Amino acid sequence: MYTNVWYVAARSEELKDQPLYVQMLGADFVLFRDDKGNPACLSNACPHRGDSLSNGSISDNGEIISPFSWLAI
Ligand code: FES
Repeated sequence: MYTNVWYVAARSEELKDQPLYVQMLGADFVLFRDDKGNPACLSNACPHRGDSLSNGSISDNGEIISPFSWLAI
């Protein structure tokens, strides 16, 4: 995978109100829309617990909520 170049990860209509898991070129990502409706992409790994962020949800302000957000860390 080259950095600093664009890759097609999904069609726009695939980004709805839940995080979308995609695997590209051997790496795992989560796609979602921010609070302004812009598409966003992160590594799919929850940095604290290692679960998939795509198993979480999207807050009203367009941020990914970890599937372990119920834990006080
Ligand atoms: S990001 Fe998943 S517990 Fe912190």
